[in-house]
Amino acid sequence: MKSDEDVGRGAAGKRRRRDLQASAVELLKSLNLIVGLDQLLEILCARLKEIFGAGTVTISLFDPITRRYAGMMARGSDAPNAALFGFFEFNPLVKWLNVNQSLLNVRTDRGVFDYLSPEEKLVLESHRVALVVPLIALNRLTGILFLSDREDGTAYSRAEIENLLMVAGQASLAVENAVMTQFQEERLKKLFHADKLATVGELAAGAAHEIRNPLTSIRSTVQFLKKDLPAEKHGYVDGVIEEVDRIDGIIKGLLSLSKSSELQLSRVDLREALQQTLLLLDPEMKRNGVAVKQEITIVDPTVEADQAQVKQVFLNVLLNSIQAMPQGGAITVHMADRPDGKREESLDSVRVTLSDTGPGIPEEAMRRVFDPFYTTKENGTGLGLSITYGIVQGHGGEIDIVSKTDPSSHGTSVTIRMPRKAKKLTIGH
Ligand SMILES: Nc1ncnc2c1ncn2[C@@H]1O[C@H](COP(=O)(O)OP(=O)(O)OP(=O)(O)O)[C@@H](O)[C@H]1O
Ligand SMILES: [Mg+2]
Repeated sequence: MKSDEDVGRGAAGKRRRRDLQASAVELLKSLNLIVGLDQLLEILCARLKEIFGAGTVTISLFDPITRRYAGMMARGSDAPNAALFGFFEFNPLVKWLNVNQSLLNVRTDRGVFDYLSPEEKLVLESHRVALVVPLIALNRLTGILFLSDREDGTAYSRAEIENLLMVAGQASLAVENAVMTQFQEERLKKLFHADKLATVGELAAGAAHEIRNPLTSIRSTVQFLKKDLPAEKHGYVDGVIEEVDRIDGIIKGLLSLSKSSELQLSRVDLREALQQTLLLLDPEMKRNGVAVKQEITIVDPTVEADQAQVKQVFLNVLLNSIQAMPQGGAITVHMADRPDGKREESLDSVRVTLSDTGPGIPEEAMRRVFDPFYTTKENGTGLGLSITYGIVQGHGGEIDIVSKTDPSSHGTSVTIRMPRKAKKLTIGH
């Protein structure tokens, strides 16, 4: 391997340095024009790889909810699964980057490398990471860039490292900006939903009583008349009763949108609640040919919550998945502490991800799935996800849906984050 200095010397070295600087400046200009986080990370990784000749470039960003640096994007030949690049604040690598706020050259700073944990060493070594670059915005470590060895086998020169640091300094601001924009957009979206739910909840509470009383009398009158009708006409009466019960079901659903402040809190084992719900749905799943895959490695699955409401959440989401796969498929239930399965005491919430292999939700529909009454089903009320949203919010948690509709890879993933300690938010009041 050539040394740093060999690459940087002479006329050719000077030209290369100039080209490098020009490319870096060009990249920074283009970064400032991008608003979307995904697009920004994608371009950042791809261009850094190109400019610096790295085999792969991976980026991890700080997630304030899990207080963890999560792998977001990896680009390059044989690119690693970005999710493997997950680190916690207490991990030695993060601590070192935080304190030193400087680049770690894995190939030359062996003393620092030795100080890392075995898990960190494994991630860095197995992906041939040569440079670890902190992304710092407002004096905080907001992300980490990982560059693997160069594709042509030469070492990174000093000039390249300096340029890389300059790019990282600027890029971290662009990334921070994009993260903030995304965060604001999500907040706004959630506020908008909460607002809509509040209105529906209030309307429902007012109207429900008015509707349910006459409904009860219709039901009992029709039932009463049934005995005077000839047997061949009983079917009509049963049809009316069925419809009345359907209306009653909708009213009940609407009412539950407005009941968020009456949580019956207790210690709830999310694994157990999930198993009980799955058991309940077992006949439905068998009928549709839906298999369940469980990936539950979490050590402590308990949260403070309303048990019945939590089951309602699982039921609504699982039912949607089953209904989305009438020709069969699979549901994966995922509940884990961290990627390497270890327990993380400081985590203040539990995440449950329920994924299916159904057709996915088209983009246009995605915007509306939480809207009350939005349904694409003949017999759906369109309240399932609105109610689910209300319950999760009512506990101070969050729900996110990611869906893919590509013919080659499709399916829907619903992630529910429940805080260990319920923070009662009073939506609808
Ligand atoms: N896992 C999923 N796969 C595909 N589409 C889904 C999935 N989950 C929800 N959807 C879409 O979102 C819509 C709204 O879902 P929601 O649960 O709120 O109502 P619904 O299932 O239609 O009716 P209900 O839950 O009252 O029976 C569904 O009609 C469907 O189009
Ligand atoms: Mg539903």
